[in-house]
Amino acid sequence: MKYITFDNGDKLPMLGLGTWKSAPGEVFQAVLWALEAGYRHIDCAAVYKNEKEVGDALKKAFADGLVKREEVFVTSKLWNNAHEKDQVQVGFSQSLADLQLEYLDLYLIHWPIALKSHVMFPEKGEDFLDYTNAPLSETWAGMEALKSDGKVRHIGVSNFNRRKIEEILASCQIKPEMNQIELHPYLPQQELVDFCFSHQINVTAYSPLGSADRPSARKQADDPVLMEEKVLHNIAAKHGKTVAQVLIAWSLHRDVAVIPKSVNKDRIKQNLESADLILDETDMETISKLKTSHRFIDGTFFTEVPGSPYEQSDLWENA
Ligand code: A2P
Repeated sequence: MKYITFDNGDKLPMLGLGTWKSAPGEVFQAVLWALEAGYRHIDCAAVYKNEKEVGDALKKAFADGLVKREEVFVTSKLWNNAHEKDQVQVGFSQSLADLQLEYLDLYLIHWPIALKSHVMFPEKGEDFLDYTNAPLSETWAGMEALKSDGKVRHIGVSNFNRRKIEEILASCQIKPEMNQIELHPYLPQQELVDFCFSHQINVTAYSPLGSADRPSARKQADDPVLMEEKVLHNIAAKHGKTVAQVLIAWSLHRDVAVIPKSVNKDRIKQNLESADLILDETDMETISKLKTSHRFIDGTFFTEVPGSPYEQSDLWENA
C-alpha cells in the first residue's frame, strides 16, 4: 500500500473506501468488510446521509478489537449549507457526532458553493433565495479553527479548481492539505493535479470507476461508460486483473489517493488488491490516448438553477 505522508508525519493510506451512494442498510456491513479486508481509510460526507451508520460500523470495529481508532483514517466533508463561519463548527460537530468519533483525520469543504443553512440542494436561485454569499475565506477560517482546536488533524477542499484554491491560498493561515476531485481516464485533469502538487496539496480521486451508480438525475443518455472502455479491458487482460483494478492502479500510479465505492464484499476485497497492480509506462501511455473526455459529476445541480449566482466556469477550468 502506498501512503501520503503529511507534514506532521501522519500517513494516509492512498486506497480508501468511498461511501457516496452506499445505501443505509448496506454501508454498515460494507465498512466492516472493508476494515476486515485491510482498508484503513474511509471517505465520508454529511451529504451522503449515512454517516451515523458508518459510525456504528467504526464503533463495532473498535469494540471488537478489529482496529484501533488511530489506525483508521477517516475523512468527512462540510456541506454547502454550512459555509458561514459560525456554521462550520455546527456542520463539523454533526458529522463528528454521527461518526461517533472524538476527532476526524481530514475535513474538506465539499464544494465552493454556499447555500443557506436550511437548503441541501438549491431549487430557487432567484434573489439568492437558496444561496448565501459567504466568502470562501470565511469558511476556510472556520476550517482553520477546527484544526487549531485539535478536532481535525488535517483540512482541505473538494471540487476546487485552480482559481478557488488560489483564493484560499491568498488569505489562509493554514494551507489546504488535500483537494478531492473527480479523476479517471476520461477526466485526468493533469494541470490541476500538477498545480496542487506544486503547492504541496495532496489529491484524492473520486468516482474513479466512473460512478455508474450515480443518481439518474446526474446521468445523460449519451454518457460514456468508463468500465466498458476496450482499452482498459485489454490492459486488464494483459495483467490478469479486472478493469476496476486497472482504474484504481491508474490513480495510484499518478500519486493520487483513490476512494472506489463498493458495498459488495468481493468487490471491496478486489478493489483493495489493486494496490498490488503496477501499471507500466506503456499502459499509462495507452490510457492517456483515450479520446473521450467526460465529467460525470458536473455540478449543474448548483449552477443550472434559475438565477443561480454560480456558473460552470466558477467550478471548472475550461468550462
Ligand atoms: P457495488 O457497490 O455494487 O460494488 P465509483 O467509485 O466510481 O463511484 O463507482 C462505484 C460503482 O462501481 C458502484 O456501482 C459499484 O457497485 C461499482 N463497483 C465497485 N467496485 C467494482 C468492481 N471491482 N467491479 C465492478 N464494479 C464495481
